Amino acid sequence: MLNDEHPSGSRQAVQPVTGSLSSSQYESLIHKFGATGFSDQRSLEALMQVYSGAMREVRAKLENLDEEFSYRSLPNPIHHIEYRLKSVESILGKLHRRGLPMTLEGMRNNLRDIAGIRVICNYIDDVYSVSDMISRQSDVNILRVKDYIKNPKPNGYRSLHVILTVPVFLSDGPHVTPVEVQFRTIAMDYWASLEHELRYKNNIPDKDIARHSATLLACAHELAHVEGQMDGIHHDIEADARKALEETKDVLPRTIDVRV
Ligand code: GTP
Ligand code: MG
Repeated sequence: MLNDEHPSGSRQAVQPVTGSLSSSQYESLIHKFGATGFSDQRSLEALMQVYSGAMREVRAKLENLDEEFSYRSLPNPIHHIEYRLKSVESILGKLHRRGLPMTLEGMRNNLRDIAGIRVICNYIDDVYSVSDMISRQSDVNILRVKDYIKNPKPNGYRSLHVILTVPVFLSDGPHVTPVEVQFRTIAMDYWASLEHELRYKNNIPDKDIARHSATLLACAHELAHVEGQMDGIHHDIEADARKALEETKDVLPRTIDVRV
């Protein structure tokens, strides 16, 4: 037995990714949304497990890059990574709101943000370089890109949204599964967190919402301006690091030469 192998009896039972929803809580959600197409909780759990696997695959890709940069003592483009699996209530709510089929098929075919990852980078350059590194990987397929950095939303929101697919290999073969990856800088994240709070707190008077929204829009413009200037400095002083990355990129063998 390997040193770090768990003794066979100690393996933890895998928890369903739908979390701690009891069957009665589940049934009341089905009832609330009239989602009889979802009445088999086990089938939804099986599907959610695949989304959870897809999220793990993309996280692993990002963590591998993160580790490579740290190991090579290169400036690390990733500040941190956040991730979440959409809750059953949010899934049913979104299908219901949008008049989509309330079935597992309807969910699979229409919702692309069940597995969600947010990559927070230091600089705007980093947002594009990390998203390129992931997008170019051979098992990754890009379904949709929305660039709210080049084209910010009217409220000032900026981020790069990429919906990609990765294969999740189960006993019956690959399940190609979408993951929504949002790339943004620390400044964009700082702004989006406050804007999100303003939008989802329901005890704020309308006139205050309007005033705060206008201020947030002005802040978004200022942040974008400051970021542009800081990115310029960063770009200049990191020229050497980019050169080092280019020069050392073939240092590791890409394939293993297998002889039998
Ligand atoms: P959904 O189906 O609701 O996900 O919308 P969509 O397909 O039009 O996607 P979009 O790319 O516009 O937004 C998806 C996600 O980006 C949201 O769930 C939020 O996490 C984030 N987002 C988009 N717009 C805003 C915004 O104005 N403010 C904040 N704080 N977050 C936003
Ligand atoms: Mg969404």
